[in-house]
Amino acid sequence: MNIHQIDLNHLKGLETPFYYYDMDLLATTLNQAKQAADKRGFHVHYALKANCNPRVLEMIQAKGFGADCVSGNEVQQAIDCGFPADQITFAGVGKADKEINLALQHQIFAFNVESIQELLVINELAAKAGVKAQVSLRINPNVDAHTHHYITTGLDENKFGVPNSELEKAAAVLRECANLELLGLHFHVGSQITDINVFKSLCVKVNEWKNWFEERGTAIKVLNVGGGLGVDYHQPDAHPYADFEAYFDVFDKFLERTAQQEVHFELGRALVAQAGSLVSRVLYTKSGVKKHFLILDAGMTELMRPALYQAFHKIEKLGGQADAELMNYDVVGPICESSDCFGKEVPLPPSERGDLIAIRTAGAYGEVMASRYNLRDEMRFVYSDNM
Ligand code: LLP
Repeated sequence: MNIHQIDLNHLKGLETPFYYYDMDLLATTLNQAKQAADKRGFHVHYALKANCNPRVLEMIQAKGFGADCVSGNEVQQAIDCGFPADQITFAGVGKADKEINLALQHQIFAFNVESIQELLVINELAAKAGVKAQVSLRINPNVDAHTHHYITTGLDENKFGVPNSELEKAAAVLRECANLELLGLHFHVGSQITDINVFKSLCVKVNEWKNWFEERGTAIKVLNVGGGLGVDYHQPDAHPYADFEAYFDVFDKFLERTAQQEVHFELGRALVAQAGSLVSRVLYTKSGVKKHFLILDAGMTELMRPALYQAFHKIEKLGGQADAELMNYDVVGPICESSDCFGKEVPLPPSERGDLIAIRTAGAYGEVMASRYNLRDEMRFVYSDNM
């Protein structure tokens, strides 16, 4: 159920702030993505880093997605929420030995490996455990994702992937590592990508590198092209919500592959962003010389994206007169930092202490990035199917 459809008196009786998850919308989004992927024979591993709430994960698992994890705890969380081990991948530039061991012990599908040293460590730990690990090599394709510089990952200057200059050596190391099996290649150029041409450029690079390996006699079974599909934060109720058809179509058209070669994706944001809203209460209103402030009981501790990336999230008042003349407010939180601001000059109906405010499209990188700074309360949740 959309947050605006819920009885306001009911919402007002709940303790705030809380994350509200619209489980119907989540299901619809997942169905759309799954159908668009299945139609083209593509596999999607959901990137847990975007949201690893168990209720959300259980639904994603039930819809048939795999899991893309970036820590031992995420691998464990995926297993606890029902993802079969052979549908779990483990990525990240800094995997600790204990995390690698956990993944080996569960015989996960694959490690996405980011350096030669890491290949050698996984080989050694796999030998000790008496198992063989399937690995994909992450290549840095040097494609500009045209997104916020904090979340672009595929440029030469970024820390991710095996540098191109080392690939020859990596291929040789792989041939010598008896406890490793090369599955394929892994790429990821960034997040919140709204320009579909970026994915076309990625396909060109993937084709080049795939050929490079095949020309050297290395078989490539899996092409993992990462995630990154962006969402429209200005239209929280847009439907259909993300253009999964257009996204997968680019890869279908531009990736060169044989019928045996699998194409894998690691979508996070586009699957979960729209299903979450942060609901907060106005604690105080304050009018300065130049500004009107709404001081909320949620802050950067609950949703860090505006403070960290100057990210836009639509801010809406719940309830109230639809035709009220709007006022401009700076909507801020209670934390002792000036960056604790959700939006400046936000047009909203006149608001007062006790009113409820929804910060929309907060289902991705919201809850997971929350902190207890200022010794804030533990996070609260409300799920639409429990209302
Ligand atoms: N695969 C890899 C290797 C990644 O690094 C990421 C995200 C994904 C997949 C999933 O990307 P998505 O489909 O969600 O764009 N905290 C930032 C986003 C950081 C993304 C990091 N990597 C934010 O709040 O915008």
